[in-house]
Amino acid sequence: MKCVLVACALLATVGTIVATEPTTTTDLEVAARNDKLSQAVIDFLENIKQSMPCGIPDLGIPVLAPFELDHLEFDVDEKGLSFKGELNKVVVDGLNEFEIRKVEIKALKLQLDFAFFFDSIRSAGKYAAKGKALGFIPFKRSGPFKFNVNGLAVNGTVKVQLKGDKVQIRDLRIVTTIKSVKSDFKKLLPSRLQTIIVNKIIESAVPRIINDNQEAITDKIENSVKPAINELLGELTLQDLIDATSGEGGSSLPVTC
Ligand SMILES: *[C@@H]1O[C@H](CO)[C@@H](O)[C@H](O)[C@H]1NC(C)=O
Repeated sequence: MKCVLVACALLATVGTIVATEPTTTTDLEVAARNDKLSQAVIDFLENIKQSMPCGIPDLGIPVLAPFELDHLEFDVDEKGLSFKGELNKVVVDGLNEFEIRKVEIKALKLQLDFAFFFDSIRSAGKYAAKGKALGFIPFKRSGPFKFNVNGLAVNGTVKVQLKGDKVQIRDLRIVTTIKSVKSDFKKLLPSRLQTIIVNKIIESAVPRIINDNQEAITDKIENSVKPAINELLGELTLQDLIDATSGEGGSSLPVTC
């Protein structure tokens, strides 16, 4: 996902070049140029999709399909349930199976609007959780898990700015919604039936939690992803980005493996 965002950011920069040209143009010309840029972004994203199984070493992007995550720690602190969790040896499939529903560049505003749709993202690995249920019942569980997210829509807007010859993201607003999740954490509770019930509870809670907390999630994505992308962009000049996105110079997409 982050990779896709980077791609958007890179391509939005093409818009910045056009936008800084001092010309007088008609609305029609502006629209035509925006369409052309939007199509270039779509082509670039289609290439990124094909490159995801290989990674893009030139842009420092690892293999993303499947995406492998060795270790991840997280804390959950909800009403009645608090625990420290970890995921190990996670494999995520389907990140390259997104449909590009919308890419629209508004070059003069240095803005790119997008909508992507993932039919399903499938993950599997091992989990461990240690904490308290209902505030006082201690538990410690671990086992294998599978977790699928179905119907993930990622819609958003990126706005960029130029600082000297460096490109930075100014705003990044992303709205994510999901249709459903399929949860299969093994050995969550001592009995099989209890484990099935807890997985069902997770399946009903997760889409609601995500869809009901849009604002907070949007803020969180902006606060965590924007600095990461800007740091990545910080080392690149505008020319590097044009080369990367136009397939000229050092980096040519798609990368095959
Ligand atoms: C996301 O964008 C698509 C395509 O423009 C649209 O059909 C869908 O309703 C949008 N979803 C949200 C949550 O805004």
